[in-house]
Amino acid sequence: NIPSKVRLIDVGPRDGLQNEKQPVPAAVKIELVHRLQAAGLKEIEVTSYVSPKWVPQMADNHEVMAGMTRQGGVRYSVLTPNLKGYEAAVLDKPDEIVVFGAASEAFSQKNINCSIAESIERFAPVVAAAKAAGIAVRGAMSCTVGCPYEGDIAPERVAYLAGLMKGIGVERVDVADTIGVGTPRKVQAAIGATLQHFGIDHISGHFHDTYGQALSNTLAALEMGVWNFQSSVAGLGGCPYAKGATGNVATEDVVYLLHGMGIETGIDLDKLVDAGQFISGHLGRPSGSRVARALLAK
Ligand code: HMG
Ligand code: MG
Repeated sequence: NIPSKVRLIDVGPRDGLQNEKQPVPAAVKIELVHRLQAAGLKEIEVTSYVSPKWVPQMADNHEVMAGMTRQGGVRYSVLTPNLKGYEAAVLDKPDEIVVFGAASEAFSQKNINCSIAESIERFAPVVAAAKAAGIAVRGAMSCTVGCPYEGDIAPERVAYLAGLMKGIGVERVDVADTIGVGTPRKVQAAIGATLQHFGIDHISGHFHDTYGQALSNTLAALEMGVWNFQSSVAGLGGCPYAKGATGNVATEDVVYLLHGMGIETGIDLDKLVDAGQFISGHLGRPSGSRVARALLAK
């Protein structure tokens, strides 16, 4: 059942950097995107169009999108929580927009200031407009295993959100373990719940590594046939509305796992490590990737 090829979506420029306190210059973000595509990434989550009062680090969305040199065959995605965000985003010609909901009511309120039901009402016109404009649509589902405010999240809640996403025309969804509390069977249950509404080709795994479980969870998802994953170069990241959440699983670590299992990714690990060193150097701290640290110590 394990897929022979995997598509990785690097969310470093967005999920990875959104929580950085010091502003990261747009030129650095652009260089990071360039290095990721040079390493063979075919999908990059570049930025978000959210309130700059809430997430100041993403206020340069326009500059980053306009400043990067696009490479053929690479899909550039951006987050848009509402029509205002979509209208700003569409000017920058993303290949895909991402609406982002949560399986937990409390997290929805903290993150996007509305209930799950209200969020779907806000997303519906965004999804319709994107599809009419020929832009792909992904739905991020946060807190599919656990929530920083509500604790454990039952798979039924994930199925409910996936059904709502499907109902408004979202094409594929991310099963996100936002705070990295999941373990393999729990993650499989969340994916199983999502399978009630989306086929396996339209589900991606998005695992944070807070408790060191992300690679195990990746393997558990692979065993179910999931072949799309989000990860963040150098393990950058953390969510501003999820206290204590560390970064996404490092892309380098996932690539090492996959290549070690003979699974193709199209990614050049050495170039990816360079990309990770570039951004870690800029941030002034060691890479969050175990693989990068091991390779650099050789
Ligand atoms: P709100 O306050 O409910 O919205 O915020 P509002 O419509 O009442 O507007 C309030 C102000 O925000 C107004 O400005 C609007 O113009 C402005 P003011 O009149 O006060 O000057 N505004 C906007 N500005 C720019 N872009 C927009 C936009 N919309 C309204 N799109 C809102 C609602 C969603 C905007 C707000 O709550 C927000 O920006 N939240 C930030 C959400 C966010 O970026 N979270 C992090 C990403 S999610 C994540 O990381 C999880 C994920 O990675 C998966 C995982 O790991 O689980 C995806
Ligand atoms: Mg995330």
